[in-house]
Amino acid sequence: MTKILITGGCGYIGSHTAIELLSNPEIEVISVDNLINSSAQTADRVGQIAGRNMKNYQVDVCDKEALSEVFEENPGIEGVIHFAALKAVGESVEQPLRYYQNNLLSLINILDCCEKYEVKNFIFSSSCTVYGEIDQLPVTEQTPTKEAASPYGNTKLVGERIIKDFIAISENVNAIALRYFNPVGAHDSGLNGEDPINKPNNLVPVITRTASGMIPQLTVFGGDYATRDGSCVRDYIHVVDIAEAHVKALEYLMEGKNEDRYEYINLGSGNGVTVLEAIQAFEKVAGLELNYVVGDRRPGDVGAIYSDSSLAKEKLGWEARRGIEEMMASAWKWQMNLNEGVAV
Ligand code: NAD
Ligand code: UFG
Repeated sequence: MTKILITGGCGYIGSHTAIELLSNPEIEVISVDNLINSSAQTADRVGQIAGRNMKNYQVDVCDKEALSEVFEENPGIEGVIHFAALKAVGESVEQPLRYYQNNLLSLINILDCCEKYEVKNFIFSSSCTVYGEIDQLPVTEQTPTKEAASPYGNTKLVGERIIKDFIAISENVNAIALRYFNPVGAHDSGLNGEDPINKPNNLVPVITRTASGMIPQLTVFGGDYATRDGSCVRDYIHVVDIAEAHVKALEYLMEGKNEDRYEYINLGSGNGVTVLEAIQAFEKVAGLELNYVVGDRRPGDVGAIYSDSSLAKEKLGWEARRGIEEMMASAWKWQMNLNEGVAV
C-alpha cells in the first residue's frame, strides 16, 4: 500500500481529493484535521462514497508533537498534500495573527516532519491570490507574484517562499505548489460538497442558499467593470477536477517526472466566466429564477482573472473536464440534499 497523508482531509477540497485517492485500491489515505472548519461527518461521507475509509486524526497541524505521533504511527508515508489552512479573506484582515500562526506554523511543522520522516513528495494548496492585481490575462506561472491584498493571501505568498527556501536545503523532499483559481461545485453523487460553517461569502454557496431561501437576495458585486457584461470575471473550476489534478500531481512527483525540485502549477479551467453568466448557468440547470440585484463593487475584488492552464496539461496531463453548468448542477444537487436531510 502507498501511504498518502493529507492535512485538512475533512475540508472541502481535501475530502474530494481523498475520494479520488481512495478510488485507487493501492492507496491508503491518512488525514489530519482539527475540524476547525469542518465536521467529522465528512470523513464518514468520504468513506460512504469511496467504499472504504480514510484514517482521520483529529489533530492540529500546529501541534508538532501530536503531528509527529501521526507519522510515528504510520511509517513509510510517501506523499503529503497540505490543504489545512484558514481561508476566509475578510476574517484574515480582522485576525491577522491567527491566520499567520495557523497557516504558517502548520506549514513549517509539516515540512519539518516530511524531512524527518523522509517523505519525498509534497504538494501545497496555493491560490491565484499570489498574482495580486493583474495587468495581463490569462495568468501564466511566469506572471510575477505581487504584494498580497490580505493576510490570508500573504500566507500563501510567504508559504510558497518558505517551501522554496526549505527545498533548497532539503535532502529528501520535492514539491509542487498548486495555485487554484475558483474551486466550486460538489461531488457528482450529491453526497459531498462545500458546507461553510460560517456565513458564506463565495459566489456559489451564496447562489445555492439564495435559491433555497436561506439568503433572501443575492447581490452581484459591481456591474461597471470593464468586462463583457460589467460583472467580474473569474475562472471557476469543478472541485472534482481539482481533486483529480492532485492525484496526477502526486503521480508526477512520485514517478520523478519533475524537472525542478520545486514547481508551481496553475489549476484553472482557462475560461473566464462573469458573475451574471454564472447566475444564468445556475438558473438554467436548476430551472428557476434567482432573486438577485446588481449592487456596488466589493472592496478588494479584481475585475477579471483567469488562468492559462497549458502548463498543467503539459506537465501533469491534466485539464478541467467539467464546465460551469456541471459545476452549478452538482452544487445545487448537494444543496438540495442538505436541505432535505439526505446529506448531513
Ligand atoms: P476548508 O476550510 O474546507 O478545508 C480546510 C481544512 O483544514 C478544514 O477541514 C479545517 O478544519 C482544516 N484545518 C485548518 N487549520 C488546521 C490546522 N491547524 N490543523 C488541522 N486542520 C486544520 O478549505 P478548502 O476550500 O478545502 O481549502 C483547502 C486549501 O486550499 C486551503 O489551504 C485553502 O487556502 C486553499 N485554497 C482554497 C480555495 C477555495 O476557494 N476553496 C482557493 C485557493 C486555495
Ligand atoms: N460575488 C458576488 N456576490 C456574492 C459573492 C461573490 O457578486 O455574494 C462575486 C465576487 O464579486 C467575485 C465572484 O463573485 O467577482 C467570485 O467571488 P468569490 O468570493 O466566490 O471568489 P473570489 O474570486 O473573490 O475569491 C477567491 C477565493 C479566495 C482567494 C481569491 C483570490 O475564494 O480564497 O479568490 O483571488 F483569495
